[in-house]
Amino acid sequence: MSNAQPVERTLVLLKPDAVARGLTGQILARYEAKGLVIVALKRLLTSRETAAAHYAEHEGRDYYPALIDFITSAPLVALVLESERAIEIVRLLNGSTDSAKAAPGTIRGDLSVFHNRNLVHASDSAENAAREIGIWFPEEA
Ligand code: CDP
Ligand code: MG
Repeated sequence: MSNAQPVERTLVLLKPDAVARGLTGQILARYEAKGLVIVALKRLLTSRETAAAHYAEHEGRDYYPALIDFITSAPLVALVLESERAIEIVRLLNGSTDSAKAAPGTIRGDLSVFHNRNLVHASDSAENAAREIGIWFPEEA
């Protein structure tokens, strides 16, 4: 097809609130229904070292200590999704960071009211996708 877009991979986290609330299946179903392919997936309890590497650009922000405590507090599910324009598409499916302001129809807009417990993470650029996949799935990098 002449209008084919580049195939991308993006790093997604179903954060501890999503796993604890039993939302793993329905969130994964949204990504799959859209057409994204799960190319790697695991459930794990995150070390503080991994959390700090993942959220390095947020160090020093007022919410940073609570963010690291939260992401390491209980198991999460990390995955890599692949499709044309995957980075942009998954950010759209997730919705705005503050779930209270996220549009209905998005994961955050439909399933959370919180700014800090907002269920999901997704890479925001090709550069960060490569960096984050290297942190969580070094075998895929
Ligand atoms: O996750 P996203 O890329 O949408 O947002 P971010 O601005 O990169 O922030 C990363 C994460 O930090 C958010 O998803 C929230 O979990 C947390 N955060 C927070 O707790 N309070 C804020 N004011 C901003 C971010
Ligand atoms: Mg971000």
